[in-house]
Amino acid sequence: MSISLPLLLFFIVVVTSGAATDLPMTAAADLPFPNELAKTLSQTPTNFTLPPISQSPQPSAPAPAPPLPGPLVPALFVLGDSSVDCGTNNFLGTFARADRPPYGRDFDTHSPTGRFSNGRIPVDYLALKLGLPFVPSYLGQTGSIKDMMHGVNFASAASGIIFSSGSELGQHVSFSQQVQQLADTVQHFILQMGEDSTAKLISQSVVYISIGVNDYIHYYLQNESGVQKLYLPWGFAQFLASNVRQEIKV
Ligand SMILES: *[C@@H]1O[C@H](CO)[C@@H](O)[C@H](O)[C@H]1NC(C)=O
Ligand SMILES: *[C@@H]1O[C@H](CO)[C@@H](O)[C@H](O)[C@H]1NC(C)=O
Repeated sequence: MSISLPLLLFFIVVVTSGAATDLPMTAAADLPFPNELAKTLSQTPTNFTLPPISQSPQPSAPAPAPPLPGPLVPALFVLGDSSVDCGTNNFLGTFARADRPPYGRDFDTHSPTGRFSNGRIPVDYLALKLGLPFVPSYLGQTGSIKDMMHGVNFASAASGIIFSSGSELGQHVSFSQQVQQLADTVQHFILQMGEDSTAKLISQSVVYISIGVNDYIHYYLQNESGVQKLYLPWGFAQFLASNVRQEIKV
């Protein structure tokens, strides 16, 4: 279903932020493909109202999020690479961008949004399954609490766990920068809603992380810094995983 997704392998970690230590890690192959997921979704009796997706990368473009009856969690926060980028790289100087056809051809708006897919990406299906609207990209929303309170997507194509992975394609928001943006967002919530409401919202929300493939494509396979002399592929995976654990703990 999806075209030109440059994915060989990547890590998916789904955590509720209440349990940020000792994360389970599963390979992408364990997850159902989007079309299977879509079939499951079409069998669910609920009718979701989809918010219009802003088509131009204007930071001021509104991304209205109509309140939906009974979402399972208050918000979904997404960190990662092109597998879950929903528009971040539209704002960056990079070759890793999906802002022109045929990207988005089969998406709800039938136009490119910055998603690296002809249609929806996994986090879109997840959002709908949770009863939430599509999650706006951090750089693409207005910064108002209304835009952000159902979740924010920080993912940036070409990014990796290692800061410099993917840099030869241009700008990206690396994993540690995304974690920083999430921390900034939480600060913003606290200033707007107070500590108690924010703590409650965050502790009940889902954080979805999909990152790691670019550390292989753009770092390990290119033998940056002679890395292959130090690590076998599996040892490199352990190195990356421990970095993710470290970032999340902070
Ligand atoms: C969902 O929407 C369709 C089309 O608007 C309608 O025919 C159908 O009855 C709705 N289903 C439910 C469960 O509300
Ligand atoms: C990776 O780089 C190192 C150092 O430059 C080199 O010794 C090693 O042979 C390279 N590995 C491969 C597979 O090319």
